[in-house]
Amino acid sequence: MTQDELKQAVARAAIDYVVEGEIIGVGTGSTANFFIDELAKIKDRIKGAVASSEATANRLKLHGIDVLDLNQVDYMPVYIDGADEITPHGAMIKGGGGALTREKIVASVAMQFVCIADGSKLVNVLGNFPLPVEVIPMAQAAVARKLSALGGEPRLRMKDGKPVITDNGCIILDVVGMRILHPTELESQINNIPGVVTVGLFAQRGADIALLGTANGIQKYTF
Ligand code: 5RP
Repeated sequence: MTQDELKQAVARAAIDYVVEGEIIGVGTGSTANFFIDELAKIKDRIKGAVASSEATANRLKLHGIDVLDLNQVDYMPVYIDGADEITPHGAMIKGGGGALTREKIVASVAMQFVCIADGSKLVNVLGNFPLPVEVIPMAQAAVARKLSALGGEPRLRMKDGKPVITDNGCIILDVVGMRILHPTELESQINNIPGVVTVGLFAQRGADIALLGTANGIQKYTF
């Protein structure tokens, strides 16, 4: 099976976690996109969705799924999203698609976080994937110095020769060379740097369930 077929298989399996008549939180990225396409098939059985990015909101709307403002929502049983890396303990690196801040906000409201990914995302130690950090633009150099002091090498995320600007008007520093043995502690340390909006470490509120697509079928982890 190709990586896309594995993503599609977990996206399909995640439909079982959608609670009928309720609001669903929806992540960002290629796996989340497959999930949105599956969600469209049962759109009449949900109250609506909260999107973790403009891109996700647009895709949901294209499918005719109601997109709700998070400020109108006080109960969301499930949030479904992909990951760039996930450990056997449910800690994740996210933000490869640049939506880490809104993903973390929406996930924080949900009762349950269901991570969907192809099996290649499972790692014992986080950090092989560059760790995304969303930063207020004026703090770029100051934050970069602090991240270097923590042992990483921050690189400004660029696209088409220009810095990537997030949905929140910020930049992203991707930190390479981190071997993250204590993700919960590092999450607090980086979030405490002035100018950091969010670090793409999801350890303090990690996944509750992971559905990982492999050649031998879908492996389910409960944390
Ligand atoms: C976006 C994310 C995505 O969940 C992560 O990058 C995985 O993406 P994909 O499903 O395309 O592999 O955190 O900000």
